[in-house]
Amino acid sequence: MAAEDPLVSAGNGRISPARGGDATPVPFLEIGGLGKRFGSVQALSDINLDIYCGEVLGLLGDNGAGKSTLVKCISGVHRPTVGTIRCESREVIISSPVVARSLGIETVFQDLALIPNLDAAANLFIGRELSWGPFRGLLRVMRDRAMEEDLRQCLQQLDIHIPAGRMRVDSFSGGQRQAIAIARAVRWKAKLVILDEPTAALSVPEQRKVLSLTRQLASDRIAVIYITHNLLDVLAVTDRIAILHRGKKAAELRTKETNEHEIVSAIMGTAGKSSS
Ligand SMILES: Nc1ncnc2c1ncn2[C@@H]1O[C@H](COP(=O)(O)OP(=O)(O)OP(=O)(O)O)[C@@H](O)[C@H]1O
Ligand SMILES: [Mg+2]
Repeated sequence: MAAEDPLVSAGNGRISPARGGDATPVPFLEIGGLGKRFGSVQALSDINLDIYCGEVLGLLGDNGAGKSTLVKCISGVHRPTVGTIRCESREVIISSPVVARSLGIETVFQDLALIPNLDAAANLFIGRELSWGPFRGLLRVMRDRAMEEDLRQCLQQLDIHIPAGRMRVDSFSGGQRQAIAIARAVRWKAKLVILDEPTAALSVPEQRKVLSLTRQLASDRIAVIYITHNLLDVLAVTDRIAILHRGKKAAELRTKETNEHEIVSAIMGTAGKSSS
């Protein structure tokens, strides 16, 4: 094809991140021909998509387009009906969220991310608490102090200002909770962070913080998938955009080379209609 990629890659063509003059980078995740069926509902069909480190990929689409289903296939909640997922060039079967995490894939959900009646440090270490004991784990003593110190350093690194101490997470604002969930992904050295509607129901300053944390993840060479219905967020934070329409990939766009009108028509399923 031509040296210049089309702005809209209709159907299932893939586009790589904006060229920097170097060779095309290897994707962290390669999704090939992925489909998911729930009984008679074909939620996803023939999805081909590459996800790169250091890049924020916006995942857009109308209600019911298949965004959450796709993300659940990547994060081990659903098994795809057909298709392949390659992670760092190896074919993988992401059979559970534990497997996803072991591959470095962390998903941050708006409300389900944290356990409200625990403090921030406990949430940071959930399921992976620091402990020590003389009998190889039989007598485990939680190292609360060490976890708090770890949290403090992690928040400092991300420039997140949250009251320290042992405050329960349910006393935090939505943005603070989101920030802790992102800090957790960073703490455990995620390679891909999936943010599902992260700024829904946040105040404007909190939205800004989450957007800047998202860019920070990308500048730390983490791959990010950012699901949102907010077009301003999309234009502000993403490098590339994949748009789903009725379970199919309707378009893939580079954010710098597109505009609101083009995005909206792809969401409505009218983009690329003239392409073969
Ligand atoms: N567990 C399930 N069982 C049956 N059908 C499902 C299930 N999960 C999703 N679906 C169907 O799959 C399709 C895609 O749903 P999905 O939740 O992925 O959409 P979405 O793009 O995330 O929408 P929204 O923006 O509203 O969150 C819908 O038709 C939905 O009803
Ligand atoms: Mg959804």
